[in-house]
Amino acid sequence: MTRPSLPGHPHFIYRDDELVVENVRLRDVAAAHGTPLFVYSKAAMLSALAAYQRGFAGRHAQICYAMKANSSLGVLQVFARAGCGFDIVSGGELSRVLAAGGEPGKIIFSGVGKTRTEMRQALAAGIGCFNVESEAELDVLSEVALALKLRAPVSIRVNPNVDPKTHPYISTGLKDNKFGVAHEDALRIYQHAASLKGLRVVGIDCHIGSQITDTTPYLDAMDRVLDLVAAIEGAGIPLEHIDFGGGLGINYNNDTPPEADALWQQLLAKIDARGYQNKKLMIEPGRSLVGNAGVCLTEVLYVKPGEHKNFCIVDAAMNDLPRPAMYQAFHAIVPLSKPGDDAAKVTYDVVGPVCESGDWIGRDRALAVAPGDQLAVMSAGAYCMSMASNYNTRGRAAELLVDGDKVHLIRQRETVDDQIRQEQLVAG
Ligand code: LLP
Repeated sequence: MTRPSLPGHPHFIYRDDELVVENVRLRDVAAAHGTPLFVYSKAAMLSALAAYQRGFAGRHAQICYAMKANSSLGVLQVFARAGCGFDIVSGGELSRVLAAGGEPGKIIFSGVGKTRTEMRQALAAGIGCFNVESEAELDVLSEVALALKLRAPVSIRVNPNVDPKTHPYISTGLKDNKFGVAHEDALRIYQHAASLKGLRVVGIDCHIGSQITDTTPYLDAMDRVLDLVAAIEGAGIPLEHIDFGGGLGINYNNDTPPEADALWQQLLAKIDARGYQNKKLMIEPGRSLVGNAGVCLTEVLYVKPGEHKNFCIVDAAMNDLPRPAMYQAFHAIVPLSKPGDDAAKVTYDVVGPVCESGDWIGRDRALAVAPGDQLAVMSAGAYCMSMASNYNTRGRAAELLVDGDKVHLIRQRETVDDQIRQEQLVAG
């Protein structure tokens, strides 16, 4: 019997009470590859991308996947083959994109702290645009480009000062954030950029935050950015593109973000109303392309009843799934094999083996579980593996990419030897 897919996860369904992604039973891959294990659905990624592509149909637009959300090569390859560009934030990310077959001309480089080495690397690769975040960075980039006898294509990240109403750690467009330049200073800084010989001003960009589920902050930010486009062009500095960042949320727990195409219908109407329909549009979505395309499979090691709390101790931990510890984030947790309807559920805190009280994955979850049972931590495609660590000398998990009934191993499980390879004992 096939049951409806899990909310927000159209590619994950129960078939005969077994959780299946595309045509692959998750219990089988857990048995073959061990846990913790990340499993991604290629179809889920492409269908998330298709929502943006529908939104931009007939427009001059470039979707740059914000690869910080998940920078595994096999994931990047899916987006590179689908024609995406990439939003990078380090020289390391640039190397990954190139290794995965991404086109240099479709890369944009964001971030407040680009080093001279990273600037040289990106200029040599021929990236499409530097999203510059401060006046000081403009000066350094111009100097670095001139030394290479090049002109760096730049956009300046402006801070529209709107509240995206999300977790404070992932709000980026407010006045007190370290990102971007203040709206009030933008025109002057554009004039400065236009005067620098090593730069070529090509665009404007903003990014107001992440896991945004409300349309209003986006609409407000678009108004603010379009005001600046008018002012900057009015001052004689033409802009080829508008880059509106990323940030669209996903459904983790009864969240109801707008669909990408519906959101863009409203944003494009604003752009058109100001007569900018011929400007190239760029966006930098991360989470909304991969978040609900991935799960982390984990096995129950022990159940530990307590006076006030029961603990379900699993083999995945905060080093694999850092979001609950960092942002009190919610990830749904479901069994790979559905227990019978009469199985007694107990309320547990689902926790990992790491020696920190902050090492929890889900709180107060009603589950019918016993040691050896396997669970899927949902919505684990974004900001999990890319933020994973080796804390407690735990190796990072393996990763699989599912495509129909094919299963591709895209990252081997990290061994202790992998972890200690770069270290050495002091001689003598
Ligand atoms: N562009 C820029 C300049 C960004 O800083 C970010 C994310 C994105 C695009 C992509 O945003 P997205 O579409 O994924 O929301 N680790 C946090 C999220 C941090 C987001 C940082 N910047 C989390 O797990 O919730």
